Amino acid sequence: MVNVAILGFGTVGSGVAEVLTMNRELIDKRTAQQVRLKYILDVRDFPDSPYKGCFVKDFAVIENDPEVDIVVETIGGATVALDFTTRALKAGKSVVSSNKELVATHGYELLQLAKANGVSYLFEASVGGGIPVLRPLTNCLAGNEVEQVCGILNGTTNYILTRMIRAGLSFEQALKEAQDNGYAERDPSADIEGHDACRKICILAALAFGEHIYPEQVPTQGITAITLADVDYANSCGYKIKLLGRTLRMENGKVCAYVAPHLVSGSDPLAGVEDVFNAVKITGNAVGDTMFYGRGAGKLPTASAVVGDIVDIAKDVKTRKCNEWGPGAKDLVQAPDELAFRWYVRVNAAVDEVRKACGEVALLARGGAPAREIAFLTEAMTQAQLEQKLAGLDMLSAIRVLA
Ligand code: HSE
Repeated sequence: MVNVAILGFGTVGSGVAEVLTMNRELIDKRTAQQVRLKYILDVRDFPDSPYKGCFVKDFAVIENDPEVDIVVETIGGATVALDFTTRALKAGKSVVSSNKELVATHGYELLQLAKANGVSYLFEASVGGGIPVLRPLTNCLAGNEVEQVCGILNGTTNYILTRMIRAGLSFEQALKEAQDNGYAERDPSADIEGHDACRKICILAALAFGEHIYPEQVPTQGITAITLADVDYANSCGYKIKLLGRTLRMENGKVCAYVAPHLVSGSDPLAGVEDVFNAVKITGNAVGDTMFYGRGAGKLPTASAVVGDIVDIAKDVKTRKCNEWGPGAKDLVQAPDELAFRWYVRVNAAVDEVRKACGEVALLARGGAPAREIAFLTEAMTQAQLEQKLAGLDMLSAIRVLA
């Protein structure tokens, strides 16, 4: 028998209970064990829940029960979740987590703690929701030097951008829909300001390049400044606006990592990734480009990834499943300042002023544009070069074009 305790009965935690119940026979067969839900920790009462016999309010009950093998942490955040994860690992229990904030901020120390205690700390659900991506990166692609990871890593913002493009919804209407569907974080500013994608690119970079990359090292821009005008101009020239997390190994050995909206060409498979779907492109020096695609948020897709980790551990609870990376360093990460991009730019200016500043540029058009609104695509240049050229102009938007 393998006993599981779930911490936090929110969207993901309740999904894990549901999948463990729905697929119980399959899971037992695949693990050659009886995998059973023993506890659910939550401060709230759920008198009508089918799991009502499992609820506890005191983590010590789980921590001190030697029958609990696997603790599932779906609380989120990096305070209570850090305390409970630390205590569970010290108590010799493996931990499975969907908590990207905790892994991105404390992953190194928690992996060290898991190692010291001979248990596993797995977090497939922390990146890409239901998409299998961390295990393929660390196992199937282990024969490669990873050159780049680039992806649509946040379901809420992708949903919002899709609804703005397809249905002409306002940002606020689209966000409300994403919240109603259970995609958004409790505080949706983590989604729309890019922090959630930042945490996920930190985890991908750590696994790809072997060193902890901390969120504060990663320049992060969200989608709050994107307007329907930008969406229309992008469409007019065959591009989609997507929020991307990107990390690359630089020639100087450093890691470049950042999160920002990009114009993605309609011919790039990332452009076809819509609604809550995420996609992660991993480029290796042997395999070339690979892409992993699926539902990036939501109850059952995320629970699917959590239960996959549970099954992996339950097959042999005594054998530690190993994930590891180094502690990172202050000067390891560099901003994308030295990378040259083509840029989409929208300004409030006369065409002559634009030509004087930037030379011949590809002007874009949209219906209903106000007088003096000019949008165009530039040649490839760094952000500093762009800012220098446009210094005298009233700039409304500047978005990188993904090469
Ligand atoms: N709020 C996150 C998203 C949930 O929208 O992608 C999954 O991590």
